[in-house]
Amino acid sequence: MSDPRVIVALDVPEAGSALALAARLDPKLCRLKVGKELYTAAGPQLVEKLLQSGFAVFLDLKFHDIPNTVAAACAAAAELGVWMADVHALGGRAMMMAAREALAGRPAAPKLVAVTLLTSMGEADAAEVGLTGTPQDNVLRLARLARDCGLDGVVCSAREAALLRRECGAGFLLVTPGVRPETDAPDDQKRVATPRAAVGNGADYLVIGRPITRAPDPLAALRRICDEIAK
Ligand code: C5P
Repeated sequence: MSDPRVIVALDVPEAGSALALAARLDPKLCRLKVGKELYTAAGPQLVEKLLQSGFAVFLDLKFHDIPNTVAAACAAAAELGVWMADVHALGGRAMMMAAREALAGRPAAPKLVAVTLLTSMGEADAAEVGLTGTPQDNVLRLARLARDCGLDGVVCSAREAALLRRECGAGFLLVTPGVRPETDAPDDQKRVATPRAAVGNGADYLVIGRPITRAPDPLAALRRICDEIAK
């Protein structure tokens, strides 16, 4: 499989366990996501090792700062050679356009996606920081803004994927966490979808952590998910 759709979230605290987990997976079947915890602990050296092992890496640091700083951070992610990076859409138009601009014209530039509204925020939380309307209204508005700024896509829940696919068109990448095979516990995820439902709703890439990383045989769990998607 040349374009694996599963992105395994390496939510572990240090390099040793991340590399041990990666060694039990297969770059032909999945990509890897390195988030704030692991990156803060293990840094670019770990990302380089994962890339050398043949994995494409989603550097999930959700940049949100002034345009100049975010543009420089995106350029650094591109230099590192990651496949995907993300920013917060709430950083606004100028910030997203600066990020886009920083990657323009680079060979093999990372795909740039935006987080819209964090799924941990409900309507009351959003209203408290001045975002009125339903979470869905906010997600849609921010996704459209990200698309207008030339970003490649957004991170969204599988349940929003169908709406965003309709509203933002084909080719706009939808990256969805909160995915659980039917036989797995939801853990702390509240609004889950099965891999098949997520893809059916229009998701391009599925971010999956614990159902794979905590499985007794991570590669077997990954294979089952890939088979479910392929059906
Ligand atoms: O273990 P699990 O499959 O729940 O991991 C999901 C991954 O996706 C975690 O790294 C989590 O931080 C991330 N994520 C999420 N919900 C979002 C954005 C990111 O679960 N809205």
